[in-house]
Amino acid sequence: MKFFIDTANLEEIKKAKIFGVLNGVTTNPSLMSKEFIKKKDIYDHYISICHLLDDENGDVSAEIISTNYMDMIEEGEKLSLLHPKIVVKIPMIKDGIKAIKYLSKKNIKTNCTLVFSSGQALLAAKSGSSYVSPFLGRLDDLSYNGLNLIREIKTIYDNYHFKTKILAASIRNPLQIIECSKIGIYAVTSPLKIILSLFYHPLTKIGLKKFLEDYKNIFN
Ligand code: G3P
Repeated sequence: MKFFIDTANLEEIKKAKIFGVLNGVTTNPSLMSKEFIKKKDIYDHYISICHLLDDENGDVSAEIISTNYMDMIEEGEKLSLLHPKIVVKIPMIKDGIKAIKYLSKKNIKTNCTLVFSSGQALLAAKSGSSYVSPFLGRLDDLSYNGLNLIREIKTIYDNYHFKTKILAASIRNPLQIIECSKIGIYAVTSPLKIILSLFYHPLTKIGLKKFLEDYKNIFN
């Protein structure tokens, strides 16, 4: 399973990169805004993120802010020209699906975002989107079962051999990552702290302490 980090913060990306398990980055307008980048520097910031990524196949989702078809395809094309790693992230609205269809025909990678239902995921796949981003955590926040949605999308995509990759987004805890890996989806995108929490187990800490003490008692 591919690990993406859901941030626009260069330091966080560098920290996640150290372990050699990072495959990509996803951003959204809220995450970009948090970086206090000036409007004119947004494209430079996407390029800086792309340069941080070593993984040959890794990519960076950059979200458009237009909401009508003509502007969406224009913005999408501009973003795609920034760097070969750019994936144009497009919201799941009617014009968005039309824009994904247009861009995918031009071999521009796309990520259909703000997906909360299987019907939306089906449309994303039929439009030829490279990725679909179901928002697991935001569904859980409203007492809907986000993982059930991931399972449903996986079944639908398998049934029809859709090539669209499932990229579970809005991850809130490490258990969601484990469950997604059991379902067998392509990737998850999560904040740095959730990726780091996968490392932790109290027995690992206790076990290592004991191993080192035992060794020191005999050999030092
Ligand atoms: O990038 C989309 C998604 O991961 C947002 O997550 O935490 O704002 O629900 P969150």
